[in-house]
Amino acid sequence: MTTDAPVVLGIETSCDETGIGIVRGHELLANEIASSVDEHARFGGVVPEVASRAHLEAIEPALGRACATAGMRLDDVDAIAVTAGPGLVGALLVGVATAKALSVALGVPVYGVNHLASHVVVDELQHGPLPDPTVGLLVSGGHSSLLLVADDVSTITPLGQTLDDAAGEAFDKVARLLGLPFPGGPWIDRIAREGDPRAIAFPRGLSGPGDRDRYPYDFSFSGLKTAVARWVRAKEAAGEPVPVADVAASVQEAIVDVLTARLVAACVEKGVGTAVIGGGVAANSRLRTMAEERCAAAGISLRVPRPDLCTDNGAMVAALGSRLVRDGVPPSPLDFVTTSNLPVTRRSW
Ligand code: KG4
Ligand code: ZN
Repeated sequence: MTTDAPVVLGIETSCDETGIGIVRGHELLANEIASSVDEHARFGGVVPEVASRAHLEAIEPALGRACATAGMRLDDVDAIAVTAGPGLVGALLVGVATAKALSVALGVPVYGVNHLASHVVVDELQHGPLPDPTVGLLVSGGHSSLLLVADDVSTITPLGQTLDDAAGEAFDKVARLLGLPFPGGPWIDRIAREGDPRAIAFPRGLSGPGDRDRYPYDFSFSGLKTAVARWVRAKEAAGEPVPVADVAASVQEAIVDVLTARLVAACVEKGVGTAVIGGGVAANSRLRTMAEERCAAAGISLRVPRPDLCTDNGAMVAALGSRLVRDGVPPSPLDFVTTSNLPVTRRSW
């Protein structure tokens, strides 16, 4: 990595993590995260107003820590990238207002960037430029999609998406049914290691006759959640203990099975040799091993960032900003707005 590559500061505040990242080109220099997750746990989900206040308190110290880790000062930054959407509007506003203020004060350009595209592009920090084209599997608490990433990561086309719950949402809802804390995904991952993934045959969404033709690259997880609720209630009604580890392992297997099957099918059918997985659920250990096995068997090269780059963070925002700078994309106008439903097709404002 040349030392003259631009230094980009990334700011992420779309949900409950305040993330500040600093990169130079593809080189990661700092990735500071302050999470308000514990403040939301007792509500069983993220409370937007609580998240916004937590960002306000955390952002300035996180900026200071990121600069210290990178061994630089704010005026060493060449450009700023900030998540403009999708996300919680009040939470996004904290990051966007901070980024705009810094842009004016430091006299550097600001890019309002897409959170979803950042989850895909972050892999470049660990494994270098993404090959062209690549199929992306984006699996987070709010989104689950298969994406065709082409034209040197400048065109992101959705191939399919969830028709109802996101994969992370499915993990979180099932965890709640099992009495596990929020967010449930990491808990299911951990507890599933003690369970038998074949203990209970939970349904694989959209795998019925005709579904493959009608929804080739889509997902559906709401039926799974209902099936688990019914199964658990039946056990309780019979006065039998709920085998939490077996349920966790079997649910995880059902989710990961459909995600990886669709990912491999998309690569094979579109003739794409590389797959990348991003988003919080990409931290799931079973998803990582099953995707590795299935991609290897199909001759597909798989890229998955390390777990702390999968869950929300500032480095991913800086990574996308860095790409935009190098691609010569014009910065965002200073009056760009936060957009709770920014489509994945749009990398930046
Ligand atoms: O990308 P992310 O940090 O935030 C959003 O943009 O949504 O994703 C959060 C989601 C949550 O649903 C969480 O339970 C899930 O990612 N998650 C996991 C794991 N780590 C985080 N799900 C399964 N296994 C994990 N290890
Ligand atoms: Zn995310």
